[in-house]
Amino acid sequence: MLEQLLEKRLLFVTGKGGVGKSTVTAALARALAQTSRRVLVLETDTFSAMEDLFDYSSPGLEPVAINEYLHASNLTSEECFIATLRRFVPSERIARAVIKNRVARVFFKAAPSVNEVTILDQVRVFFEKTDDDGKPFYDHIIVDLPASGHAVTFLNVPATMHGMMRGIGPIAKMSGKVANLISDPKTTAIVAVCLPEEMPVNETIELAAKLDDELGRPLDMAIVNMVHQSPVPEENRQAFEEIHTQIRKDYPGVEAFFFEDEEERSESTALARLIAGNALALGWFERDSEYLQLLYDRLDAPIIEVPLVYESSGVDVVGKMARFLLEGNPAGNSVSDDESSQGVPR
Ligand SMILES: Nc1ncnc2c1ncn2[C@@H]1O[C@H](COP(=O)(O)OP(=O)(O)O)[C@@H](O)[C@H]1O
Ligand SMILES: [Mg+2]
Repeated sequence: MLEQLLEKRLLFVTGKGGVGKSTVTAALARALAQTSRRVLVLETDTFSAMEDLFDYSSPGLEPVAINEYLHASNLTSEECFIATLRRFVPSERIARAVIKNRVARVFFKAAPSVNEVTILDQVRVFFEKTDDDGKPFYDHIIVDLPASGHAVTFLNVPATMHGMMRGIGPIAKMSGKVANLISDPKTTAIVAVCLPEEMPVNETIELAAKLDDELGRPLDMAIVNMVHQSPVPEENRQAFEEIHTQIRKDYPGVEAFFFEDEEERSESTALARLIAGNALALGWFERDSEYLQLLYDRLDAPIIEVPLVYESSGVDVVGKMARFLLEGNPAGNSVSDDESSQGVPR
């Protein structure tokens, strides 16, 4: 399922808040790390979701090894700003003095794109880090982009800055490097996470068009999260519909069991409620399928459907999702509990 992403070293994950963007980012990272690739997950100046999902605490810029292959760091704009400044001025002390300077602070607060460009420049630094043999240190860097604002605007900042400075000077040079990295579809992938619902699906279609127009690069993958699975195998579908029709005749208003107060509920048997409950779930599955179809019709990028996972903790959701991303869901109806991992060949 992840074949399209294996060649990409830098992955930007975007999506509106609440669609499961951080969970999917964490699951992608876990899945890739399970194939013995060294993966770095970066969050960008937000309240960290990964600290809970990976049970670690981020001390700042320096990535923490969660296990041999999985590393993470929460990039705050202040740390990234100092790190960028450090690459231009001789000492950390001067860098810190610059950022503590009131006038400088006002100036940088007034120029919000400074945050984006220094965060993205820090991403570039990790991207270019090599091991002792000169090979890339991280096989994959996965960035959980901020939910607020538009990914295209965020990712376009370096190119805009480079243009504004007409390519002259060290900052223009730095932004140019970052812009090239972002626009290179060979190394960099942009992954959109959405829900199978009208607005998110349409936004994903628009995002793909915008990436093409404004960054001159495609959307590499859409991950549709929390997709309801059909409770009824396709071959039993007709028989199920017949039983459901009969049940509704025998127990009118049986659905009320799921919605109404106890006194309002009509008489029904457990079997009738079981059928009615599954009919409801089938309705959710069908509604999801409609929006998925819209996405398949309108989007060129590969689409992965990630099922709704019934786990109470975020860590367990990530675990199941990572296994699903590695092994797929051949049964179609439930995420397998089978621990055996075939994995993706390295
Ligand atoms: N496929 C899924 N199945 C069940 N719960 C999910 C799934 N994906 C995400 N969640 C849950 O949804 C909530 C929001 O997820 P999160 O990744 O924090 O969203 P975002 O980063 O988009 O704001 C979390 O409680 C998470 O555990
Ligand atoms: Mg999040």
